[in-house]
Amino acid sequence: MSALPATTREVRLARRPAGLPRSSDFDVAEVPLPLPAAEEALVRTTYFRVTASLRMMIGEGAESVEGVPFPVLRPGDPVAGGALGEVVIAPEGSGLKPGDLVAHGAGWREYALVPAAELSPLDPATDPAVHLGHGWTAYAALTRAAGIRPGDTVYVTGATGAIGSVAALAARRLGAARVVGGTGSAAKTEALISGCGYDAVVTVGSGSLTDKLAAVAPGGLDVVLDTVGGDQLAAAVGAARTGARIVVIGALSGQLAPNGPGRSAPVSLDSFQLLLKKVTLRGYSADDHPEAEQEWLDLLDGATVPHHVVAGIERAPQALVDTIAGRYLGPVLVKPF
Ligand SMILES: NC(=O)c1ccc[n+]([C@@H]2O[C@H](COP(=O)([O-])OP(=O)(O)OC[C@H]3O[C@@H](n4cnc5c(N)ncnc54)[C@H](OP(=O)(O)O)[C@@H]3O)[C@@H](O)[C@H]2O)c1
Repeated sequence: MSALPATTREVRLARRPAGLPRSSDFDVAEVPLPLPAAEEALVRTTYFRVTASLRMMIGEGAESVEGVPFPVLRPGDPVAGGALGEVVIAPEGSGLKPGDLVAHGAGWREYALVPAAELSPLDPATDPAVHLGHGWTAYAALTRAAGIRPGDTVYVTGATGAIGSVAALAARRLGAARVVGGTGSAAKTEALISGCGYDAVVTVGSGSLTDKLAAVAPGGLDVVLDTVGGDQLAAAVGAARTGARIVVIGALSGQLAPNGPGRSAPVSLDSFQLLLKKVTLRGYSADDHPEAEQEWLDLLDGATVPHHVVAGIERAPQALVDTIAGRYLGPVLVKPF
């Protein structure tokens, strides 16, 4: 084992952002290297993920909203988030050994202490972006909640995000005939088509989104995988075909709203359309089907996925700002060393 440093760096929440976060809302602190207690492992971070959903953990008023499966962070707390790392020290009898690749939720720091019981070795040959991108959520939602069928026309909102950027691949491998993506960034249209497997892209903005969907999916939508909610969900209801299945897996329109804690995403839906077209509308969490992750890895069969890597832990706060501003495609990973 190479010599351990005496100190290590971690990103902390400096203050609660009043609206969308700015890089000045975070500090990079140098702290003594933590040493593991009896049941803990010390893990050296190789990558951690920066995700727009962090907004829900740090926004003003975050404490006041119940039922969201994310911890609330207070000023001074180290930031949390999905990470990959190498085991440096492992407890005797834990089944872990130095050098094992593991995943955990204590990202945004160079070294993390993690209960050994929560860790299991991962295949180091798998693309870090596949491990951290949560793309298997799209696979799980399509197979468990949408009941995707061969020949379906699928619409994915938030197509450039970590989940949306692999959803077309998942839908295609599950037999979809046509996959349409929605984005607020027209500049990413070509990348969504050539790099992510979308057949067509609609850009949110001026003009009726329902009309745009009707133009690229004239027969209507069979399946909608919605990571955004709000007006984009309302438009999808308008463009749905009879018997469509709409699965809400995210709420980026609320999470990234300029004001508030980012924990609600109100929308006005035409319930008459739901009735006439016998649409099924449901929310879904992939936490209910963790076994789907391995199925997704098997389906990917070693494929890599689009992603963006930022080098240096000190650049993580700006990477979050840029992720929320929609500057990237796919999961955004920070390589701290
Ligand atoms: N149900 C589950 O099991 C589950 C699991 C994990 C995550 N989630 C949820 O799934 C959603 C997507 O997660 P993700 O990791 O794919 O997101 P992400 O990669 O962190 O999202 C980044 C994207 O957000 C988009 N965006 C920025 N501002 C927006 C706005 N005001 N309205 C709509 N989109 C905006 C940008 O797209 P443009 O380029 O189009 O601007 C950007 O590419 C989140 O709500 C997350 O909490 C659900």
